Amino acid sequence: MPKPASDKLNTRLTQLRELVAYHQKRYHEDDAPEMSDEAYDALVRELKDIEATLGVVSGVAEAVGGTASAAFAKVNHRTRQWSLDNVFSDEELVAWEERLQRLLDKTPYADARVTYMAEHKLDGLKVVLEYEQGRLVRAATRGDGQVGEDVTHTARTIASLPVLLAHPVSLTCVGEVLMFKDDFERLNTARAAAGESLFANPRNAAAGSLRQLDPAVAAARSLSLYVYDLDNFEPHATGLVKPQSQAAELLLLKNLGFPTSPYPQECPDLASVKKFYHHWKVHHEDLPFGLDGIVIKVNEVVLQHELGYTARAPRFGVAYKFPAVETTTVVEAIELQVGRTGVVTPVAHLRPVLLDGSTVSRATLHNEDQIKRLDVRVGDTVILRKAGDIIPEVVSVLLPLRPLKTTSYRFPKRVAACGGDGSIERVPGEAAYRCVSLDSDFLRRQRLYHFVSKGALNIDGVGPRILDTLFDAGLISTVADLFDLNTEDFLSLPGFKDRSAHNAVTAIAAARTTTLPRLLIGLSIDHVGEETARLIAQYFPTIAALRAATEADLAAIDGIGPVIAMSVAAWLTNEGAQHEVDRLLQHLSLKSTTTAAASSLTGATFVFTGTLPTLGRDEAKELVRAVGGKVASSVSRSTSYVVVGAEPGSKAAEAAALGVPVLDEAAFRSLLAG
Ligand code: IVH
Repeated sequence: MPKPASDKLNTRLTQLRELVAYHQKRYHEDDAPEMSDEAYDALVRELKDIEATLGVVSGVAEAVGGTASAAFAKVNHRTRQWSLDNVFSDEELVAWEERLQRLLDKTPYADARVTYMAEHKLDGLKVVLEYEQGRLVRAATRGDGQVGEDVTHTARTIASLPVLLAHPVSLTCVGEVLMFKDDFERLNTARAAAGESLFANPRNAAAGSLRQLDPAVAAARSLSLYVYDLDNFEPHATGLVKPQSQAAELLLLKNLGFPTSPYPQECPDLASVKKFYHHWKVHHEDLPFGLDGIVIKVNEVVLQHELGYTARAPRFGVAYKFPAVETTTVVEAIELQVGRTGVVTPVAHLRPVLLDGSTVSRATLHNEDQIKRLDVRVGDTVILRKAGDIIPEVVSVLLPLRPLKTTSYRFPKRVAACGGDGSIERVPGEAAYRCVSLDSDFLRRQRLYHFVSKGALNIDGVGPRILDTLFDAGLISTVADLFDLNTEDFLSLPGFKDRSAHNAVTAIAAARTTTLPRLLIGLSIDHVGEETARLIAQYFPTIAALRAATEADLAAIDGIGPVIAMSVAAWLTNEGAQHEVDRLLQHLSLKSTTTAAASSLTGATFVFTGTLPTLGRDEAKELVRAVGGKVASSVSRSTSYVVVGAEPGSKAAEAAALGVPVLDEAAFRSLLAG
C-alpha cells in the first residue's frame, strides 16, 4: 500500500530539519560549511514551505544564526541583532516597496517622500562593537541575535578597527568583518604548504580567524572591517547630533574614524536602486572582496521607526541577492534522450526550480560515467548549478535526504528510440553512447526535421507534420528524397489540394539555392552546429575543397578542436554520407558566402534582447554576420553593442551597467549602413 502523502511529507520534514540544523552548525559555529549558501537557502525555503503546509513551526528555519560557543564569554546584545528578508527579482523589490507604502499610508507619514540608501551586502561575519566615551569596550559576534560571543581580543587585532574614536561618544555599531580575496588566497596557500586544512571561502576564513581564542592567530591574518549601522548613540558633551538618515549615519561613523560601507549610494527612488543593483550584479566580481547582493534601507530614520520590525527582520530594509547559481531540487525521473546524430544523453527530469533567473526542470547528466560518479537516483534531492550560459548541471546528491528503497541507475543496453533492436555502443574515445544503427525511423525523422529547420535549409511550410506524412507514405526516407518530390506526390497525401501541393513543391524548390554553411548545418554531422559550419566554409568554400581536406587540415582551423576535426573527417570518409551529398548536389546550387569586406564592424559582438519592431531575430543575426560581426547570447565586457527591442530582459540593464552602447532597431540599422 502506498504511504499517505502526509506521511511522506512528515518524513521529509524530519530529514530537512536535521539537515538544516547540521549545516547551520557547520556554517555558524564550526566556520566550515559543506555546501554553498545558496543551496542551503533552498533547503530552508523547502523546510518553511512544508512547515507552512503542515501548520507547524520548529524554529529551525527561523534561527538567526548559531548558538554562542561555550569557548567564548557570552554577550547580551544591547540591541537585538536582526536578520534581513531577501528579494530575488525587480518584481519582488517593487512588491517590497508597495508593502512599505501600504504601511506608511496608515501613519501620519502617508505623504512623506521615501528615499533609499543602497549598500553592498558584504559577505563576511557580522560584528557588534560597543564604545564608551570613545573607547572600544566590547566586540561580539551576532550569535542567535540576542546572545553573541565576546571576540574583543581578536577584533582588536583588525588594523582598520578604531580602538579610540575621534570624539568621546558612546555607541553601539554594527559592521562586517571580512577577508579580502588576495589575503584569503595567501592564507590558504600558506595553510596548504603547512599541510593544514583549507578554508572554503573568504567568509569562513574571516569567521574562523575572528573566532579564535588566541589573538595572535587572528593578528597574523589580514582581516578587514566595514561598519554600516549605528545604535544607542550618546553624544555626551561633544555637540554631535543623532543622525536622522542612514546617509548621515554613515557620514558620522566615518567622521568618528570607522571604515564605513564602501560604495554607498543615496537613491531618490526605486528606479535608481535597481540601477545600483544591476550595476553591481555585473561588476561585483571585480571587487577585491566578496558580496552576495545589495542591502536597501529606507533612508529617513523617522520612517524607519514608523515601519519597525517583524519577528525576524526590519521592515525598512531588505537584501536584494544576486541570482543564485546553485539550488536544490528533486530528481523525478531519468530519461535517455537520443539526438539526431544518435548520441544517447541521460537527462534528469526535475521538480521545477528557479535558478539564475529562469525556471529549470531538466538537467543533463552527460553520460554513464557521470551518473556513476554522482550515484544519482530517481527520488534523490540534488544540488543543481548553473552559471551564465552554461546548461544546468547536477553537482551532487544530498544523501541524508535520499528516500528509502531507491535503486542505483542502470544504464540500459538498448534504447528503443535508436530503432531496430535498439543497440547502443560507446563512441570511441568518448564517455558517450551512440545508437549502433543510425537508420532507425526515429533518427531519420529527426534528421529530416533538422534539415528543413530555419538555421539549415529553411524550407518554410514543410514542417515536421508534413515530413511525417511523407515519411509514413514511404515517399521520403532521407533528405535528398525531398528534392525528387513533385506535385502529384503531395496530391496523393490526405489533406493536400492543388494549392497546398503547389506551395510545398515551390518551398522545396526555393531551397535549392542555398549556401555551404546551411548545407553543412542541415546534414546532422556530429558536433557541427551553426558556428562550426560557418568556420569550415570560410576555410573550405566549396564541397570539393572540403572533400580534399584531411583531419589535420581541419584541426588547424582556429576554433576547431580535435573532437570536431575527427568527427568531420569521419563523415568525409563515410560512403553512405557522401553518396547522400552527391545526390543532394544534383539538385542544389551553392551560392558562395562572400565574407564581408573588412569593415569597422568586423569582429564586433552584438547581443539582442526583446522583440524588434520589424526585424526577426534571425534576420537581425544575418545582418550582423553580413558585415563580419558576431552574435553572442550574453552581455560581457567584450560585447560591442546590445540591440534592444520591446520587453527586453535584464540584458539591457546589464549593458547599461557595463557601459556597452545600447541601440534600438533604427540605430542598429543606421550603424550597419555605415
Ligand atoms: S543591515 C537592521 N547592511 O547581511 C539592519 N547588513 O542582515 C540589518 N550585511 O548578517 C543589517 N552587509 O551581517 C546590513 N551593508 C549592510 C550589510 C549587511 C552585509 C549582512 C549582515 C547580516 C546579513 C543580513
